[in-house]
Amino acid sequence: MKAKIAVLAGDGVGREIMPEAVKVLQAIGEKYQHSFEFVSADIGGQAIDKVGVPLPQETLALAKQSDAVLLGAVGGPKWEGLEYSLRPERALLGIREALGLYANLRPAKVYPNLVDASTLKREVIDGIDILVVRELTGGIYFGKPKGIEKLPNGEERGVNTEVYTTEEIRRIGKVAFEAARKRRKKVTSVDKANVLESSELWRRVMIDVQKSYPDVELHHIYVDNAAMQLVRNPRQFDVMVCNNIFGDILSDEAAMLTGSIGMLPSASIGAKVGLFEPIHGSAPDIAGKNIANPIATIASAGMMLAYAFQLDKEAEAIEQAIVKTLDMGYRTKDIQSPGTRVVGTDRKSTRLNSSHLGISYAVFCLKKK
Ligand code: IPM
Ligand code: MG
Repeated sequence: MKAKIAVLAGDGVGREIMPEAVKVLQAIGEKYQHSFEFVSADIGGQAIDKVGVPLPQETLALAKQSDAVLLGAVGGPKWEGLEYSLRPERALLGIREALGLYANLRPAKVYPNLVDASTLKREVIDGIDILVVRELTGGIYFGKPKGIEKLPNGEERGVNTEVYTTEEIRRIGKVAFEAARKRRKKVTSVDKANVLESSELWRRVMIDVQKSYPDVELHHIYVDNAAMQLVRNPRQFDVMVCNNIFGDILSDEAAMLTGSIGMLPSASIGAKVGLFEPIHGSAPDIAGKNIANPIATIASAGMMLAYAFQLDKEAEAIEQAIVKTLDMGYRTKDIQSPGTRVVGTDRKSTRLNSSHLGISYAVFCLKKK
């Protein structure tokens, strides 16, 4: 097949991990006879520096004309002082909204040989396989009124609004139930229905959606309890469906179960052009040190193959390549353990020589097979 892929590396570690994912896709293209065209564009702080806005028109136009978008990460201390509407993070919200990507899938699985990289005990995390389904274009991230206003007494007042309509809840609910059907048939809906009206509606609609999925179990959990249960007994979860902000928070927590936030990919879907990105950010504290973990981005490329192009076999090949690379003992610093070989993404690094092919992580394994 032929596909045009918009490549938006962004800031910080985004620039280190993206080339690895592209190499993996090129290797897939060669091996399975697909022709992927990669077109890069600026986003986030990079774009602010060049043209003054985090999501330039041309970038959005490119995304809309592409078959899928692969995104690295945005943001960094350099741009933190800017007003909210001009910050790098706006680009993420803007592109998700403009492409209509209301459903964000964040799978958290623990690779068997990384069990010891987690800060949690082996017996707690062994075998976890959770899919966080996060609503992505609604809730408090987008709700109005919003803003910071001056009060007559000189104080300021900051406002955001958590708001969901029946239809917004229904469509994300359906995504969760459909996903659960292909998994262990259990949906846990996360809310704060004991306090928030928007959550009360969320719960009611989820109960209604479940009526069309009698084969799938529906459970409800308050978000505070969900945060606790994720570290207490994460194996109880199959699909967790969350509003935008709860999904943001719980997916970071779920990521740490797997050993490192550098491992978790995501797929944002719901419209014509899907967007695929690691769940981690630009990590300015480690950027440029050749220690970033490219696996989340490589796995996001895998999700792109499966969700955007229905190339399941190819997606599985990426998954296997990641497993094999880990089996061979290659690790980035965040997941290193005694007896493993630490590699980075920078080929020119003096610490590495050309035999350390783990730098290009999965590519190596793909070629060898
Ligand atoms: C994520 C990120 C973003 C979000 C930020 C960077 C805007 O944390 O994708 O989880 O909150 O959605
Ligand atoms: Mg987040």
